[in-house]
Amino acid sequence: MKETVVSGIRSTGNLHLGNYFGAIRNFVKMQHQHNCYFFVADWHSLTTHPTPENLHTNIRSVLSEYLACGIDPDVATLYVQSDVPEIPELYLLLNMNAYVGELERTTSFKDKVRKQPENVNAGLLTYPVLMAADIIIHRANKVPVGKDQEQNLEMARKFARRFNHMYKVDFFPEPKAFSFSNELIKIPGLDGSGKMGKSEGNAINLIDEEKVIRKKVMRAVTDSGPQEPDQEPTEPIANLFSLMEVVSEPETLTHFKDSYAKCSIRYGDLKKQLAEDIIKFNAPIRERILEISANDDYLRSVVKKGAEKARESASASIREVRKIIGYKSF
Ligand code: TRP
Repeated sequence: MKETVVSGIRSTGNLHLGNYFGAIRNFVKMQHQHNCYFFVADWHSLTTHPTPENLHTNIRSVLSEYLACGIDPDVATLYVQSDVPEIPELYLLLNMNAYVGELERTTSFKDKVRKQPENVNAGLLTYPVLMAADIIIHRANKVPVGKDQEQNLEMARKFARRFNHMYKVDFFPEPKAFSFSNELIKIPGLDGSGKMGKSEGNAINLIDEEKVIRKKVMRAVTDSGPQEPDQEPTEPIANLFSLMEVVSEPETLTHFKDSYAKCSIRYGDLKKQLAEDIIKFNAPIRERILEISANDDYLRSVVKKGAEKARESASASIREVRKIIGYKSF
């Protein structure tokens, strides 16, 4: 069955290999099977107060990067969130039935309060409401997000359900997490533990230059070497193997795993090979990013068409929502 799928990426930095293998690669496949809406979440990015220059630059680079990875604006609807004013209208309406207590209890909010006590703004508190608006404005039923977004998605379901219940309608579907048919690949970072993330500072961006990639990989955390034959790799080494698994030839991975098992591995060689394979993987994407981001006419046309398609769907929902709530024209 064809589902309506929505997903957004906050425009707070460049896309990295983790984004690519964790999400975007699947979006590219999904766009041919479902009715997909992908957007740059630039309103969400305001919670951390970007400067005007940064705001635009980031939107532009995320958009170029999505396109370079293979999102086809003629197939999916690719848009910038702030081009769709129906989203904040729905956000306002949903806010009337979102309770401060439940918003304060979300883990992402509590995290932010801990991490940035100097900037606990109301936008942060109502972040899940805006995200719910993003999703249900298209009456989406599937949202391809990672584990870290599960609670936000749960809240989106709650707000959709609450609206339906309050007005005794069956208007908004309850959006479910999209489970990819192939298993989700977790891309680890280069710092020895945990996943790749922009805030962790352990990421390789799709746009990184060759020498930057070499430097980052050569600095990756390792250990003091296998202590005995056939030992399970420690986490930092398993992480490097995981990266190899997605960018290198299978024989390369086998070679290094074997030499690890035989205790003859040299981490310098492993890293050199990994860096070259990442460079090889990134090169065509990087080239397309540069090409696309230099093409103003193309970007303008993509954004315009995306906004039109997104607003068509969003305004149909808002018209209906207004009617349901009780707004009538004079
Ligand atoms: N909160 C998501 C993140 O931080 C981004 C996002 C905003 C999103 N709106 C969304 C994701 C709607 C899916 C659907 O990654």
